[in-house]
Amino acid sequence: MPETMNTQGTAQIQLDGKVLDCPVIVGTEGERAIDISKLRSSTGYITMDPGFGNTGSCQSAITYLDGDKGILRYRGIPIEQLAEKSTFVETSYLLIYGKLPTKKELDAFSAAFNEHSMIHEDMKNFFNAFPSATHPMASLSAMVCSMSAYYPEFTKEDPTKEEVNRIAVQLLSKVRTICAFSYKKSIGEPFVYPRHDLKYVPNFLNMMFSSPTKFYKIIDEVVNALRVLLILHADHEQNCSTSTVRLVGSSRANLYASISAGICALWGPLHGGANQAVIEMLELIQKDGGNINKYIAKAKDKNDSFRLMGFGHRVYKNFDPRAKIVKKCADDLLNKLGIRDPLLDLAKRLEEVALKDDYFISRKLYPNVDFYSGIIYRAVGIPLQMFPVMFAIGRMPGWIAHWKEMIEDSTTKIGRPFQIYIGSPKRDYVPIDQRGK
Ligand code: SDX
Repeated sequence: MPETMNTQGTAQIQLDGKVLDCPVIVGTEGERAIDISKLRSSTGYITMDPGFGNTGSCQSAITYLDGDKGILRYRGIPIEQLAEKSTFVETSYLLIYGKLPTKKELDAFSAAFNEHSMIHEDMKNFFNAFPSATHPMASLSAMVCSMSAYYPEFTKEDPTKEEVNRIAVQLLSKVRTICAFSYKKSIGEPFVYPRHDLKYVPNFLNMMFSSPTKFYKIIDEVVNALRVLLILHADHEQNCSTSTVRLVGSSRANLYASISAGICALWGPLHGGANQAVIEMLELIQKDGGNINKYIAKAKDKNDSFRLMGFGHRVYKNFDPRAKIVKKCADDLLNKLGIRDPLLDLAKRLEEVALKDDYFISRKLYPNVDFYSGIIYRAVGIPLQMFPVMFAIGRMPGWIAHWKEMIEDSTTKIGRPFQIYIGSPKRDYVPIDQRGK
């Protein structure tokens, strides 16, 4: 990862009679940023940008997005090609190590997943301690953080490359097992252990849906649909949860702790929790007679907290390239399985009405990756509360790749934003007997 900046010219900031020349940084695809890292020390001013809609936090070589053209590339490779031709394990390698693996490298990487697919037997005690209705994102975050206790040798402040490689495979492989175990616990069935003869997705499906009395038939179409979804979710540059992983990691917290924080950030319904919120929204509309116009009106009403979940994006302003692929994947899977899901029909009608409505057109609100993904999870039989967990499993390689890129960059500093204080001016302490009733 380049630790120098490619600059072209400067931007001038004029303040209180002073002029600050700020270098203009230029990215691979011509994106431009003004480097204001000398602003506070030179002028005493800071910038203000709530939600960071205009602020770059770092340079990164992992993922490139173009929100206007609907472009998404992992290490330069278009998402459409990876979704069609790659596997989740191969895409994980690409994101973490910056190149497509040779066959030998991929075989070794894949074999390591088997070595690390089991969780420490004591970790099963977590499931007895959590209430049965625990949201699986809560148990996932807790158990990932607890891995720093089970594998303390990997929590050093400056892990070696080999140690980071091992933690990466551990996390990628074990989260599958943790998530499947949390599902089994929630339905009162015995845990099904990972198998060495099954690849990533079939292994997960087997742990989720087989049991001592029930043989789960692994269907290629289902495996392919989850393969596509995991690849599509694998990274998305500086989104809320990845920025969280970087911020936590910038304090030199270990990878387990940083990822655990990222899982919590992803849980929110404005982020990775949206796939669950979309289905809850569709079920609400369906229960209310399928009155789409009523809910489109609610979404537009500033006095109504209802939002069209699965719509809108901070970056994509024409379309989310992932949403297009997911929508087709949902159609194909339901047709192949012979499933008719009324929520899919409702979602399509909702999209059709919204995309003709000026409120959504003027605000450039389109379906995002979460709008149709829940339809696929439903068809596979994954329970609603596990939808954000599926997002977390998919995003694991992206989180790891960004944490690794950050700690390998010698220019990385601890993240510590400033603020503008708007509280009380200086005042003295008042003893309690003088504070009135
Ligand atoms: C993900 O960042 C990433 O890359 C995230 C992600 C990833 O891969 O990591 O892509 C995954 O999180 C996708 C987003 C999933 N979230 C949802 O589907 C929740 C519903 N969407 C919104 O809450 C919203 O669109 C966000 C959070 C996605 C984006 O919020 P922004 O960029 O802060 O936009 P905003 O809230 O400032 O909205 C701009 C305008 C506002 O109206 P005005 O004040 O200008 O009149 O659009 C309106 C908003 O009220 N608006 C919506 C809306 N989204 C935005 N109105 C109704 N329904 C919506 N969904």
